[in-house]
Amino acid sequence: MAHEQLDAAVGNFNTLEEYRRYLTGLSRFRAAMDESLESVVWPNGWSWRPTAVARSLDSDAIDLNLPAKRQTSYDIDLADDSVLLGALYVLEGSTLGARVLRQRAAALGLDQAFGARHLAVMSKDIAQWQSFLILLDESPDFDIDRAAASANSVFALALQCFESEFLVVQ
Ligand code: HEM
Repeated sequence: MAHEQLDAAVGNFNTLEEYRRYLTGLSRFRAAMDESLESVVWPNGWSWRPTAVARSLDSDAIDLNLPAKRQTSYDIDLADDSVLLGALYVLEGSTLGARVLRQRAAALGLDQAFGARHLAVMSKDIAQWQSFLILLDESPDFDIDRAAASANSVFALALQCFESEFLVVQ
């Protein structure tokens, strides 16, 4: 199952070095997604927006002396609402595991003030996930096949970002 593979790639971060590797992978993934999300024209009637983690993730990277992230040119076309919802399902779903990761980070001495700020943001509010599910439920013309294909490819991108040292982008 894809999520199990992702858990293995994320690791348990028993050491600071493992945590730094996780942070590098996540920053790579989020940078690629943020770039695609920036050009989204949000559908009429949506007041919901994905949890914003870029700023806290950047601060965590600085806390842990990671090199500045490079610009990616990974661009996913999210113009179709079903494709967009599929991608958001993965992004928002990733907050569901944040509580577990936050505890592991705390064992390394990292918290909302240093090094694990993004995990505090991501695990803050389960209401955000619930309101996403309502949005999903109420979306007109929702095409489950397009959404699932999109979710799978975003999941695959996340896996690639965590597993490889270098994200090959064109
Ligand atoms: C980029 C995408 C994702 C990442 C990086 C991610 C990462 C993780 C990690 C590392 C864990 C902890 C696993 C462990 O105990 O070792 C976890 C747990 C979990 N994830 Fe994900 N995940 C992602 C997407 C999703 C999606 C799309 C869903 C569902 C919609 C989801 C639902 C969950 C749930 C329910 C847990 C268990 C939480 C708990 O035990 O309290 N995740 N995730």
